[in-house]
Amino acid sequence: MTASPTRTRPSKSSGLSYHSASYWNHRFITDPRESSGFEWLSSSTSLLSLLTTSPAPLLLRDPPIHILHIGVGTSSLSLDILKYWRQQFPADWMYRAKNIVNVDFSPNSVDFQRRAECQWLGEIGEDGDVELMEYRIVDLLDWHQVESVLGQGEPFDLVLDKSTTDSISTGEDTAFTCIKGDTHHPSLLQLARSKIGVVGGVATTQVLGIHLSSIVKPDGLWYCHSYSSDRWDDVISPSEAAAADIWPWKQTDKTSVAVESSDPNAPLINHYIYTMQRS
Ligand SMILES: C[S@@+](CC[C@H](N)C(=O)[O-])C[C@H]1O[C@@H](n2cnc3c(N)ncnc32)[C@H](O)[C@@H]1O
Repeated sequence: MTASPTRTRPSKSSGLSYHSASYWNHRFITDPRESSGFEWLSSSTSLLSLLTTSPAPLLLRDPPIHILHIGVGTSSLSLDILKYWRQQFPADWMYRAKNIVNVDFSPNSVDFQRRAECQWLGEIGEDGDVELMEYRIVDLLDWHQVESVLGQGEPFDLVLDKSTTDSISTGEDTAFTCIKGDTHHPSLLQLARSKIGVVGGVATTQVLGIHLSSIVKPDGLWYCHSYSSDRWDDVISPSEAAAADIWPWKQTDKTSVAVESSDPNAPLINHYIYTMQRS
């Protein structure tokens, strides 16, 4: 066996368990901040402004875009989109709401989101018993779950991701030798075949990107809001292996987002929103 010269990243065994469902299930029940909703990185404003202020705002499109919100946690991003649509399209915002699919692997997160929608509908005098948005419990790193739960309907125009790739990135790589045809995505199998005899594996961020590419339209977008200034560093790029299938995304933009702080003397820290386009 030879070590891959381009895959000499340190092991991920840093003790962080943000990739683990048990961590999140426990956190959503026990962390008091989650009971009323907690926003990672920053509020949904930065992503929302990207969706509403560009020259051709995605949220104003007709017909409405089909949105996959991954790793919803207890964030208010999807509900904020609904509130925006309600303002902009008083006649058909409820119909638009059906185009948002909220996904998390934690049932506690999905329950929270369902309750938040129901409560808000009650507050605005609508029938909270009729669910407007869609909710799915899916492990995004499990190809069979992604394919069977998210891959059957109309492909998505847009993936919204606020720090979910960050969480997923803390997981260990999948060793090339462990990639099998009956459980993994065909593109991962192809990548593993090109790496026979090479020690190493595929980063969780790449597994996620390959899975998402199968349920997003060609030219569709993935807005990834991340703390990391080099979010895709772990990805094996197509120039390294033969086929573009192993990374079917092109970064078309990277927007800096200044981190808000209540301390005026705090150093300026930036997060980033990556615009990835499906090739
Ligand atoms: C850092 S939190 C971000 C939550 C929310 N997007 C926000 O901005 O506040 C990451 C979320 O991703 C979810 N998650 C992590 N790994 C996942 C996976 N493999 N499949 C589905 N959801 C996952 C967690 O349950 C959690 O809700």
